[in-house]
Amino acid sequence: MSNLVAVIMAAGKGTRMKSKLPKVMHTLAGKTLVEHVLDMVGKVGVNRPLVIVGHGRESVEACINNRAEIVIQTEQLGTGHAVLQAMPYVEDDQTVLVLSGDQPLLRSETLNALVELHQAQGASATVLTAIIEQPFGYGRIIKKGVDLVRIVEEKDANPEEREIKEINTGTYCFKGSALKAALSKITTQNAQGEYYLTEVFDIFLKNQEKILTYSTTNSYEALGINSRGQLAEAEAIVRTSILDYWMAEGVTIVDPVSTFIGIDVELAQDVTILPFTRLLGKTVIEEDAVIGPQTTIDNCILRCGAAVTYTVAKDSEIGEGCNIGPFSYLRPGTKLGPGVKIGDFVEIKNSWIEAGAKVPHLSYIGDAHVGKSANIGAGTITCNYDGVNKHPTKIGDHAFIGSNTNLVAPVEVGEYAVTGAGSTVTKNVPAKALVVERGQQIIKEHWHREKIK
Ligand code: UD1
Ligand code: CA
Repeated sequence: MSNLVAVIMAAGKGTRMKSKLPKVMHTLAGKTLVEHVLDMVGKVGVNRPLVIVGHGRESVEACINNRAEIVIQTEQLGTGHAVLQAMPYVEDDQTVLVLSGDQPLLRSETLNALVELHQAQGASATVLTAIIEQPFGYGRIIKKGVDLVRIVEEKDANPEEREIKEINTGTYCFKGSALKAALSKITTQNAQGEYYLTEVFDIFLKNQEKILTYSTTNSYEALGINSRGQLAEAEAIVRTSILDYWMAEGVTIVDPVSTFIGIDVELAQDVTILPFTRLLGKTVIEEDAVIGPQTTIDNCILRCGAAVTYTVAKDSEIGEGCNIGPFSYLRPGTKLGPGVKIGDFVEIKNSWIEAGAKVPHLSYIGDAHVGKSANIGAGTITCNYDGVNKHPTKIGDHAFIGSNTNLVAPVEVGEYAVTGAGSTVTKNVPAKALVVERGQQIIKEHWHREKIK
């Protein structure tokens, strides 16, 4: 897009959210509202938009993380006042695309069409409108024939105007010079005593400047998030569209109603997702993997054919053909080679478990490196924490760790070594050795009879 600057209004408190978080910091499909809007303007070729921040600006700025120019609105006196703050950074001959930070569902195709129409027609202003069944709360588009006459806020509208179903989406294009001139004239003479951005249209009309409306046919794009109810509505819309997308791409989703897939997740063909499953973050799932039921995978890579059931996994890599669960907990830094088995009530943290190794039941493996085809018996614990520092454990290829072994780190168990069940291992075990650390078994024959004699 030529000579385009974007202004995102994100300074408001969002009173109707009843939250300590600024409104644009609420999350939708795993991303904050303001990030959705930044992604959206990125897709129309604006890489560094101007973002108006104010309420809770530290957290908003941290979230924006240098992806935009920050403009501060110290007092939130209305949308017109918000956009006015950005005017020193706008050139007269630029097209200004104004968006709200609380409008996450706009599509870049729609924005492109809006900007194209505006520029092609040489308009001073073009407003993006939508026709929606329940227009309550939105500014209404008052027209005479096809021409815009006024934008009236819900609180300022008369009963007749409230019947109108064409609404202001809060997204506009302006000619830089025209916007600057009009903003310098707006007032606070309205029901809310605020500087309304929409008042610039009254000024344009008075000056007989060219103004246009462009209506999107997808009414959901207009959804502005003012309340928790609208946030949930948006979540449902995004969720359904993501599920539909992946099903069309060849993923089996047995029960879409109980399946949640984040916006940044990537799935391959012939992945199967069983009910009550959430895939979050930048999770990538390769072909033929089967996930669920009752599984949460956050920011993980699952290689081909892995099966994960009744499991929670975060920031982990699960190798080809691994078999995980039921009831496994994979914590950040877990890396599993191909064909690894992690079974019930096993917790793994920051550990690399190589091909074919098995941790089938009731174990904690933390800060460890487990070699190929090692077998970790039930109840094995890596005692990695001494109360001050964390220490590593190394278990060699083909080692056999007997049930209920405590491995007191730092410690190493060599290749093919065996630990006796119930041993507390505090010293390194050489390759191929057997270590047994437990009291001798004492048998007293006929003990019971002797005692009662
Ligand atoms: C606004 C429009 C309304 C439109 C609706 C679409 C006005 C007067 N009304 O109403 O016509 O139908 O959006 O969703 O513009 N903000 C600031 N500083 C302020 C005030 C607001 O940055 O001083 C930001 C908010 O953080 C928000 C955006 O501007 O992201 C819109 O403000 P909001 O209060 O939500 O406006 P609406 O009442 O929804
Ligand atoms: Ca709003």
